[in-house]
Order: sequence, then structure tokens, then C-alpha cells
Amino acid sequence: MLLGLTMAKSWQVEMPSNIALIKYMGKKDVEKNIPTNASLSWTLNHLTTTAQLTMNTDGVDRWEPLPSDYPFQMSATGREKFLNHFLRIKDSFGVTDGFTIASGNNFPADCGIASSASSFAALTEVSCRAFAELSGKSVDVKTKANLSARGSGSSCRSFFNGLVQWSDDGVALMESELGSLSHMVVIVGGGSKKVSSSEAHKRVASSRLFQGRVQRCEARLQDVINFTKPLDWPRLFETVWAEFWDMHALFETSTPSFGYFSPGTIEVLNGVSEFWAKHGDGPVVTMDAGPNIHLLWREDQNDLSLQYYTEALQGRWTCLSNIEGIGFAKI
Ligand code: DP6
Repeated sequence: MLLGLTMAKSWQVEMPSNIALIKYMGKKDVEKNIPTNASLSWTLNHLTTTAQLTMNTDGVDRWEPLPSDYPFQMSATGREKFLNHFLRIKDSFGVTDGFTIASGNNFPADCGIASSASSFAALTEVSCRAFAELSGKSVDVKTKANLSARGSGSSCRSFFNGLVQWSDDGVALMESELGSLSHMVVIVGGGSKKVSSSEAHKRVASSRLFQGRVQRCEARLQDVINFTKPLDWPRLFETVWAEFWDMHALFETSTPSFGYFSPGTIEVLNGVSEFWAKHGDGPVVTMDAGPNIHLLWREDQNDLSLQYYTEALQGRWTCLSNIEGIGFAKI
């Protein structure tokens, strides 16, 4: 269907990133991004991608960076993955026009946060919004999330705000007593080996520890849900802690093995353990496929989180946070 080129219409959306508490790691179907196990994430509303779609007159699709405080360039592979996903969405609506996709993040590209969740969510959302308007075909949020998963698995969880599960039954918001959590990501610098998460999904299957991974994830996912309602913060911390170590153990025991830990990673993780031991309280901690450490704090821990920041991070590590007084603190 050619939708007509009478005016250069434009659409814009902003979508958040998310951090997994139970990790999507390993695929049953690489082509379709069907996960080996169910995952669970927390939506990071302060870390977003804005995507803008404008119809072209030459019928060609192209990507360009959106002017922003934090400009970034997508790699050739990244751009190809992005444009292929756009083509998939166009096909699903029967659209044949060409568009310029402009996108940009509200966080720095070099700060070690995977932007694929928010950028693919933003691309899917802006495209669905535009094509629904142009074609008169509407799509619900679950359909959009499923479509987004085809582009990049973790992006499907960004369509809901809070504790979000992605399982064989699709994407769904889970009830919890977490309230609104604060977030910090501690940037400790590059890991020794650079392996993309898409490559990591393939390699982990070679680890002997991959046997039993689905069962461990299922048990932990159920635990996380149980520990968020009624809230048992220390046991939530223990479960989420065990889960990221499990994923990183898969990386280190794959063939060929790879890893993301840097000396700073160990220093910050040890510091968090000591903080918990000293105060009997602390943040929920997790890591993605990278060396940086994500910390989540309850609303009533505001003073404790600032104390931790002052004692352990200030003047030592770059930190990005939605806690007032921290923001993007670069050393
Ligand atoms: C470690 O969603 O980036 O962040 O589907 O191949 O694009 P593709 O992978 P991606 O994998 C994310 C892996 C993770 C864990 C998670 O977010 O669940």
C-alpha cells in the first residue's frame, strides 16, 4: 500500500529503558528472538530514547541522529538491525513509503547503558503510531510489545511501567509493592572483552551451566514476584544478586569464554556487600552484559542512598541517577 506523499508528516515518541532483575539470556529461536527463559524487569523512566519519523519523498528509509545534548552515532551493524526492524513493522502494516527515522537518547552514549531496549521500543512505538494513523489499522500495546521483541528482545518490556514480565504468554505488568524505585548506574569503565548481547545469547548455550538455567530462572522469577508482594527487600536483594552472578557465570564458562567484569566492578560490588552488612539494608543490585552496576533503592531509602553515594561513589566513579542531588555525576 502506498500511503500517499502529499505532505511530509512527522511523528515523535519517547520510550524508556528497563533493567532486568531476571535476565533474558539465551534464545530458543535466534531469528525470532524467542527467549529460552522468562524474564522480569523494572522500567527506567528517566532513561529514554526519543524517535521521530518523517515521510520521505524518495521512497528510501534512512536513520539519522536526533540533535540532542548527548549526540551519538549508531554503528553500521546497529543501523542495519534498526532499519531491518523498521522494514518488519512496515511489512506488518503493508506500508511501502520511505521514511527518515531520527533517534537520540537522553543519556550519554559512553555511559555504558545498553540503549537497545529504549531505542527499539521507541522505533516500534513511533512506527505503529504513524502507520496506525495512516492506514486506519490500530494495534494494542501487547501487540506492539511483541512486535518490538522481534527487533530486540528486551525492548518489549519497556511498553509497561513497573515490574514487567516477558514469558511465553507475552508481556505483562506484574502487581508489586515496590512503589517508585530510584536508580543509579555506576560507570566503572570498559570490560576486557567486547561481546554484544546478541552474541552472548548464542554463546551461553555452550556452557555446561546452561543446563538447569530455565529451572533456576523460573524459581527465581517466582521468588522475585513473591518478595515484592508483600515486600521482603533483603530476600529480593539476595535473589536478584544470585541471578546476575548466574548470568555472568554463564559468560565466563562459555566456549569461547568471555566476561565483562573490570576491577571497578568488583570494588563496587564489594562496597555494596559491606554497606548491606553494616546497615542491614541497602540497594537491590544487578548487572547487564557489561561492567557497570545498577542499584535500585526504595522510596524511603533516600537518605541511605545519598549516604552510600557520598561514601562509596562521589569523586571516584561516574554515576547516572534519578536521585535528586546526583543526576549525571561525572568525575
Ligand atoms: C543481558 O535484548 O539486547 O540485557 O534480543 O539480541 O537484541 P537481542 O538482545 P537484548 O538482550 C538483553 C540481554 C540482557 C538481559 C535482559 O535485558 O533481560
